Parts: sequence; C-alpha cells; structure tokens
Amino acid sequence: MKIKRKDLLGIEELSRKEIETILETAESLKEISERAIKKVPYLRGKTVVNLFFEASTRTLASFALAEKRLSADSFNLSSSSSSVLKGETLLDTARNLEAMKIDFVVIRHSMPGAPHFIAKRLEASVINAGDGTHEHPTQALLDLLSLKEKFGKIKGKKVLIVGDILHSRVARSNIWALKKMGAVVSVCGPPTLMPYKMEDMGVKVFYDLNEAIPDKDVIYVLRIQRERQTGGLLPSLREYIELYGITLERLEKAKKDVVIMHPGPINRGVELDPRVADGKHSIILEQVTNGVAVRMAILYLLSGGKSAEISES
Ligand code: CP
Repeated sequence: MKIKRKDLLGIEELSRKEIETILETAESLKEISERAIKKVPYLRGKTVVNLFFEASTRTLASFALAEKRLSADSFNLSSSSSSVLKGETLLDTARNLEAMKIDFVVIRHSMPGAPHFIAKRLEASVINAGDGTHEHPTQALLDLLSLKEKFGKIKGKKVLIVGDILHSRVARSNIWALKKMGAVVSVCGPPTLMPYKMEDMGVKVFYDLNEAIPDKDVIYVLRIQRERQTGGLLPSLREYIELYGITLERLEKAKKDVVIMHPGPINRGVELDPRVADGKHSIILEQVTNGVAVRMAILYLLSGGKSAEISES
C-alpha cells in the first residue's frame, strides 16, 4: 500500500488505513537500526532539511537518524543559526531552501498551522514535527507503534492521558490517533488546563486522578509545559504533584500490568516520579526507539515507497 499525499501535517486528516500502513512499514524498517551497518538506499539522492524553530532532542535526533539510515542527504537549520535572526520570514526561508532543490522539509514551529502554511506554497513534501499547541503527528504514530508492540492490538485498550491537556499537541494528536485505532480514551487534569467542551473529542473527562486510574491499561503522562503557561492556569507545582503527579503510591491504585508512557522530556519529580519513569511499567525508552522507525516509514512512504516493497537491502 502507498500513501497518496505530498505532506504529513496531522493525524486528524489521516485515515485508519494510512495509519496502519505507516505502522506496518515502521515495523518492517525497524530492524535496520539493529544491523551492524544501519543503512539502506531507499532515499538515496533525496535532500531533507530539518527546520527546527523550537527546541528538540528526540524528534530532531530521530529524524536525522532516520534520514541517514535511509541514505538521504540532510541538514538542520534552527532559528538561532539561520537568517530568521535577521528578520527573514518563514515563507522566504522555505522558498529559498526550495530554490536549492530540496525534497523534504521537516518543520517544528511554535505557531500552530506553520507546516500547513508552507506545505500549500512548496512543491517539497512537508512533515509536521510539532506545531505549537496544535499537533505532533509523528509522536502519536510512534506511540501507536509502541502500544501495538506491547499489546498486539490497540482496539479496546483503555488509555488515560494525564496532565496539561489544554496546551498539549501530543494529547490532541494521540486522541485522534488512538480513537481511529479503536482505543477508549480518557483525559485527566486540572480544570484550568482542560479545553472547553473536551468531551466533544469523544473522550471521557476526569478531574480526580484517583477515580480515573483503576481500570486503565495505559497511563500516558504529559509534560508540564512551563514555557506555554502564561495565564496563571497552573496551580502551584507542589499542588500539581499532589493532585496529578504519577507516583509509586498512586500506581498502587492502577492495574497490576498498567503501562506508563511519556513523550519526553520528563520533568522528573513533577508529572512523573523518577521511580515510575525508570520502573517496570515504563515503556518510555521503547517509545524513543520506535521514533526512528516511524520517521523512516513516513519519509519512505511520502517519497513514493510501498509498504510491501521493503526488501532485505
Ligand atoms: N517528544 C518530543 O517531541 O520531544 P522533543 O521535544 O525532545 O523532540
């Protein structure tokens, strides 16, 4: 199966079939990262620019590794190292890069819709690596892959997303992704960090974590985004930890085999107790491993590859 789209901008517009194709392709490509020589020629001759205008460790590193493992030529640009510092607009930056005959732009930007804005104006494929509080589609896809590996199937699994739902692009993308795959999704967080009419997204809303936890298969812990808290919506950190922190004591209320996920970076001791982050329920580092495979799959499929065509190169 092929993906018939130029860009990957969000989970909202992806069909279940497209998501399954990305996951199946990622499963096939994952073993390349286990080889002594971690390289296949699928993107040979293609050029990728990683345009990261917001900080990143996991997403930038895993895109860069995915590009290298597929033999693409790639380089990174950040706002602090580009002519954005001199006042150049995003569109001018993108058009100048395209004039150098690039094939892909991977973009992270603080403005929701920035990837969509340039995708409409460029011939190159655009991949959204996180746009403000809107979407983080590759994160949601790597999370689905991690859940598929853990459970075999996602349909029917009860997933609780905990934390700052209001500012979280990870929550938004994951809610769409999980629901498309048939999971039962709930969210829990302080009322001030819960979007208005959250139930309209087809999720159950909790404000009391102790009520929300007991029957869930997965607790997906969100990062407290101190950089996006501008309106005094967050109670004090001490109060947040008390009410919404995932601690060992709180895990005692959960199912014995509950799975703990987090997109990173973790505020250790705030949203997540270090003993839980590093404990037996956590699949946080498996999520990171799967990030490379998912990003390889997206680059491969957007460049015209078919999921069934991956061979023993
Ligand atoms: N999960 C995630 O997007 O992490 P980075 O900000 O480090 O890329």
